[in-house]
Amino acid sequence: MPSDREPALITGASAGIGRALAARFARAGHDVVLVARREEKLRALADSLEDRYDIAASVVVQDLAEPRGPEQLYETVTERGLDVGVLVNNVGIATQGTFTDIDPGRERDQLRLDVETPTVLSKLFGREMVARGRGKILNVASSAAFQPGPFMAVYYASKAYVLSFSEAIAEELREDGVTVSVLCPGPVDTEFQERASMADTPLGSGPMQDVESVADAGYEGVMVGETVIVPGYGYKLLWHTVGVMPRPLVRKTARWLNE
Ligand SMILES: NC(=O)c1ccc[n+]([C@@H]2O[C@H](COP(=O)([O-])OP(=O)(O)OC[C@H]3O[C@@H](n4cnc5c(N)ncnc54)[C@H](OP(=O)(O)O)[C@@H]3O)[C@@H](O)[C@H]2O)c1
Repeated sequence: MPSDREPALITGASAGIGRALAARFARAGHDVVLVARREEKLRALADSLEDRYDIAASVVVQDLAEPRGPEQLYETVTERGLDVGVLVNNVGIATQGTFTDIDPGRERDQLRLDVETPTVLSKLFGREMVARGRGKILNVASSAAFQPGPFMAVYYASKAYVLSFSEAIAEELREDGVTVSVLCPGPVDTEFQERASMADTPLGSGPMQDVESVADAGYEGVMVGETVIVPGYGYKLLWHTVGVMPRPLVRKTARWLNE
């Protein structure tokens, strides 16, 4: 398959859903730009994707939780002359525990990665896409976006932001030839649970979605310009019903899952 020379840029591509999305884009013939902090993992992935598929894979090592991290990423990509055709805002971390106990530094990183980074990158790359009259943005939210999440309060609220923000700019940018999609998976077995110290909660130790199926759903959805992509029938049902369920029941269920 011929390479798509307007690459897909994927943040958080060294592991988990981002890595699977990068492989999915490469398999479909897209050049890819892989972004995260662990250079060896990114280089190994880039080499294996270039070996397996007829594509070019670039690596950008960037800590996106640093102040101006997203701006620095944009500057690096611009200096390299890469015209990003698909922006995948995948990077994200979670914190778990009682809100007043969670270290504010970790929470600030979480807000930078989960809220500020997709916002800034969507604006910077989105402006270029609007100027070209074409482009695609895929923001990775979560089924956590559908309800408040006691004991993961900031994470659930961050993902609710990503869902709302994505739906809103999808409406704004449609007429400029730019589609915006938001992917809302349920729990997926990645490094995420361990990073968030949530491996022992009912949510962190319960049923998981398969990372490849989630990446397939994200890829297929973004390519057809689907706005809200919810992989799996159970989570589709949750998405459509949670708004009419009694709110105290929704909160208590989420509390039980996260505590
Ligand atoms: N796993 C789930 O259950 C689940 C469910 C729904 C939604 N999601 C969402 O899916 C997205 C990906 O999650 P995942 O499960 O794939 O997580 P993961 O396995 O922990 O991977 C996170 C990725 O982000 C990168 N990263 C972390 N901190 C970074 C930083 N400061 N700067 C740059 N890159 C950083 C990591 O690479 P380095 O360490 O190399 O930087 C890694 O590539 C997140 O937005 C998450 O909220 C996850």
